[in-house]
Amino acid sequence: MNDTQLSSRKADHIELAFSAQTLQADPRFYYEPMAVPHPTGEHPWEPLEMAGRRLLIPWWISSMTGGEARAKYINERLATAAAKYGLGMGLGSCRPVLEDPRTHPDFAVRKFLGDQPLMANLGVAQLEHLAAVDQLYKVVEMVKSLEADGLIVHINPLQEWAQPEGDRLLQAPIDTLKRVMDAVKLPLMVKEVGQGFGPKSLKALLELPLEAVEFGAYGGTNFALIEAMRASESDFEGLKPAAELGHTAEEMGDWIRQWSAQSWKPQTRVLVASGGLRHFLDGYYHLKRLPGNVIYAQAWAFLKPALQSQEALNAYCESQIKGLQMAHQYLDLRE
Ligand SMILES: Cc1cc2nc3c(=O)[nH]c(=O)nc-3n(C[C@H](O)[C@H](O)[C@H](O)COP(=O)(O)O)c2cc1C
Repeated sequence: MNDTQLSSRKADHIELAFSAQTLQADPRFYYEPMAVPHPTGEHPWEPLEMAGRRLLIPWWISSMTGGEARAKYINERLATAAAKYGLGMGLGSCRPVLEDPRTHPDFAVRKFLGDQPLMANLGVAQLEHLAAVDQLYKVVEMVKSLEADGLIVHINPLQEWAQPEGDRLLQAPIDTLKRVMDAVKLPLMVKEVGQGFGPKSLKALLELPLEAVEFGAYGGTNFALIEAMRASESDFEGLKPAAELGHTAEEMGDWIRQWSAQSWKPQTRVLVASGGLRHFLDGYYHLKRLPGNVIYAQAWAFLKPALQSQEALNAYCESQIKGLQMAHQYLDLRE
């Protein structure tokens, strides 16, 4: 750095100090700067296997879009970023692929994703219907045609309930899931879509030999609220209280920690903390506090830059990875 750069930086500091008075330190971490040098930019974590492929970073792009005008370019950008940085990706509900083969290109991202893990996605209502008519084989065909490594089953009864045109479940989701597990020999991930799971549901899921359970917890994107907002004004007031139901990732993590402390072991291979995670510090927090194989995931946080451009999305990924490396070097959990 030359003298001019140094004096301009010092001038910035004086100006910016007025707007950079911090209010509260993040209470979740100890900051320990004494025993380590700066992070080198190398990944400090071991690659993690997911559905037979490798995540270079414990970070996952949660299921989002498909069957909508912007879906194709959003999915291509997400897949391109996942390939570049070593992430994995869940597709948004692939129901359109089953119903209209013309939507297949919206979801066909394997050529952008390279060797990174990819999971297709269907709702439990759709699976219940396919099971009832003995057509679960169509799921396997669909996953193959998308060159995906497995299937995500989303469990979203509250969202469906709040939707005037929503599906009504005739079977308990756990029974449908067991039927799917028997019929479809694929790695399965099960997730909520922003309400999370209560303790009985979460434990029942984790006691199944699933590839992963993604929290889809309360605290971020809220589909009960989205559906309430889509309803008429008079219905909105009636539906709105339901948007306050659910469980945060913190709460779900607390239960898993309590059960694990009582020598309970999940059968599910990977825990995916998600729902309302704003940035790398939220992700790092869950990576550190959950037992076993853990990754974290975000949906909305990826969507914003993905709508903008590939460059914006790449810049987001780079800032988050840099942040994760910093966190790994300097932060200890306060407990
Ligand atoms: C635009 C959008 C579309 C979504 N579509 C799906 C979907 O098709 N299937 C699914 O399982 N989850 C879907 N989700 C839910 C997310 O995967 C995630 O569980 C939820 O948004 C909570 O994460 P977040 O707070 O990081 O956004 C969608 C989320 C968004 C924002």
